[in-house]
Amino acid sequence: MAKTKKLRVGVIGAGSIAQACHLPGYAKNDHVELVAFADPVPERHKEMGKLYGDLKGYAHFKDMLSNENLDVVSVCTPNKYHCAAAIAALEARCHVLCEKPIATTLKEADRMMAAAKKARKKLMIGFTHRLFTGPIACRELLKEKAIGKPFMIRVRFAHGGPYPGWAKSDWFYKQDDAAGGAMLDMGIHAIDLCLWLFGPIVGVSAKAGALVKRIEVDDNAVMILEFKNGALGYIEVGWTSKPGFSGIEIYGTEASLICDYAKGLQRCGGKASAGRDSSREWKMIDRNPTNGGWSTEIGHWIDVVRGEERLTMTGKAGRAALQVALAAYKSSDTGKRVTIKP
Ligand SMILES: NC(=O)c1ccc[n+]([C@@H]2O[C@H](COP(=O)([O-])OP(=O)(O)OC[C@H]3O[C@@H](n4cnc5c(N)ncnc54)[C@H](O)[C@@H]3O)[C@@H](O)[C@H]2O)c1
Repeated sequence: MAKTKKLRVGVIGAGSIAQACHLPGYAKNDHVELVAFADPVPERHKEMGKLYGDLKGYAHFKDMLSNENLDVVSVCTPNKYHCAAAIAALEARCHVLCEKPIATTLKEADRMMAAAKKARKKLMIGFTHRLFTGPIACRELLKEKAIGKPFMIRVRFAHGGPYPGWAKSDWFYKQDDAAGGAMLDMGIHAIDLCLWLFGPIVGVSAKAGALVKRIEVDDNAVMILEFKNGALGYIEVGWTSKPGFSGIEIYGTEASLICDYAKGLQRCGGKASAGRDSSREWKMIDRNPTNGGWSTEIGHWIDVVRGEERLTMTGKAGRAALQVALAAYKSSDTGKRVTIKP
């Protein structure tokens, strides 16, 4: 049998998400040859030397793209550079996995999608939560009408914030680099899940603010979503949270799905009575609803590139989530509800 050629892979931005998800994912994938990375910061090159020995490093992604004849590229830079890096990689005829959010403006997202179309290459956005077993099960259960007609979704994603403790610098806290705070960073995952589970969003009202950290972007936010199908949703995100609920709750006419990321995904039936005859019938569906995610993302992406799996986290999906996030900032700034034309 003819041996299939391995896909030559490069990573742009070798910081925390590259080191936690992309690089180890490529390194363990049999269909891939991890060839090079690009990062302007010398410290990253030292770290990469320790982690990946002789992996070739470039200061600029353009040099990597012109020298290495790559097939696949991950974009793991701060948000500000997603568009330029992804377009350069697409123009170099690479398939591109770009971290979330797709970009910082809708115009950038449009240019990235046009570049992918022109190059006839795949563009996937890193919506990691769609690869957790809990959200996947929620989607299947909704398809099976396991909770009747869903009418309300609540998502809460909150932790202590990306810096210090996660990111390699404090760029997440700078408007120019990040284009938003927690409402964009954590919110984009939550918005994408809402779109994926409930369909198009036609209106948003939101409030974001720096409540605790002394930073120029928001560290906490709430969004109220109006879905095209008439359902409502609300999202709470934060970068200043102590441990508490993190996950998704979906309420339907027959039952509820409580996907507590720490405690498990459960279906709750019974009766929530206004009187005294309430009853709860809990059924555990998945004790570890955050299985998957980073550990499966690159395998999934490479299967998408190889045509073994369908591309669903498309540029269009990335743009749709960004559109809602940017509308949420407009609502927060103006104090008014913002209409969205999906
Ligand atoms: N999907 C997820 O769960 C998830 C989690 C965390 C971060 N992210 C996303 O990943 C991206 C990177 O975040 P991070 O946490 O790894 O940040 P980080 O600060 O740890 O790493 C960013 C890296 O990019 C490098 N860089 C900056 N400008 C560059 C350029 N022009 N070319 C090449 N490299 C450049 C920096 O030197 C740094 O090493 C962000 O878009 C973030 O939103 C996604």
